[in-house]
Amino acid sequence: MPTRVTVYEVGPRDGLQNEARVVPTPEKLRLLRLLADAGLPRIEATSFVSPKWIPALADAGDVVAALPPRGGLRYLVLVPNAKGLERLLAARAAAGPGAAPVDAAVFMSASESHNQKNIHKSLAETYAAFEEVVPPALAKGLRVRGYVSTAFGCPYEGAVAPERVVEVTERLLALGCYQVSLGDTIGVGTPNQARRLLELALARARPEQLALHMHDTRGTALANVLVGLEAGLTTFDASVGGLGGCPYAPGAAGNLATEDLVYMLHGMGYETGVDWPLLIAAGELAQRLVGRPLPGKALQAELAS
Ligand code: HMG
Ligand code: MG
Repeated sequence: MPTRVTVYEVGPRDGLQNEARVVPTPEKLRLLRLLADAGLPRIEATSFVSPKWIPALADAGDVVAALPPRGGLRYLVLVPNAKGLERLLAARAAAGPGAAPVDAAVFMSASESHNQKNIHKSLAETYAAFEEVVPPALAKGLRVRGYVSTAFGCPYEGAVAPERVVEVTERLLALGCYQVSLGDTIGVGTPNQARRLLELALARARPEQLALHMHDTRGTALANVLVGLEAGLTTFDASVGGLGGCPYAPGAAGNLATEDLVYMLHGMGYETGVDWPLLIAAGELAQRLVGRPLPGKALQAELAS
């Protein structure tokens, strides 16, 4: 059984995109520095999406130009279309030589209605848009990750057949994504469902090509991660303090908290490279930045002890 697990920290993007309070750029960078110091190997820093739709991340260019480089740490940013890629390439150029590596991530849903609400395209139009993102990004030396949202259920359509999720996953891998993260956007997934989805997906992809992006809206995120570990997956997404959700998925608050994930992994003997006291310090800072207690259970237990 593998003993090393890669934690993808998504809080600065998936968390802050959904907060009522817009966090100023220098404070975002403070949080990013602390998460980097805590040893997280992958951090999703921001999004090059339309600032009209996600005003909280309108400063993406400034954030990317100032990301702190740290050893093997790679950052990621969401890029929905050719315009997003153009903005990412400009920000990387502004950061200059010696800047931290920044990869791209494309995202789409397994269900038509959520995809339409989120990125205003049908699934077919989205594949076409990604042709203008993924191959050109790879040609520029970027690595590209993929997300499949609503992989466990859709806020508009209800149940989503796992075969549809696997079909989208295969398309994204075929396009050149190095990994596809299966997102439980509204936090409805349960372990038997996760097992079935991973059985089907692992018939078409290697374990390292898949990740789980669980939301803890109904308290099932870690149970689903455990199913992922048992299936051989070694990459899981989580958000500092449990920040965030998706603004186009009503009721989607509750990304799995990074502290809850890391607490379980360390307790089970997995190595993550994450420094626990610095991770807690990052959670504490994240709470201060958004001005409210965050839902992460391990964070709150640590702060109360
Ligand atoms: P659009 O508005 O539908 O249509 O954008 P458009 O392409 O015709 O563009 C319209 C206007 O937006 C134009 O400006 C474009 O220039 C501008 P105007 O002429 O009106 O002044 N525009 C852009 N500006 C900056 N950067 C860009 C860009 N593209 C167009 N890249 C788009 C389509 C996808 C951009 C838009 O719908 C959008 O930004 N949606 C937001 C999607 C989003 O960020 N959702 C949250 C992330 S997904 C998520 O959280 C789930 C995940 O965590 C997994 C899980 O939890 O399950 C990944
Ligand atoms: Mg999410």
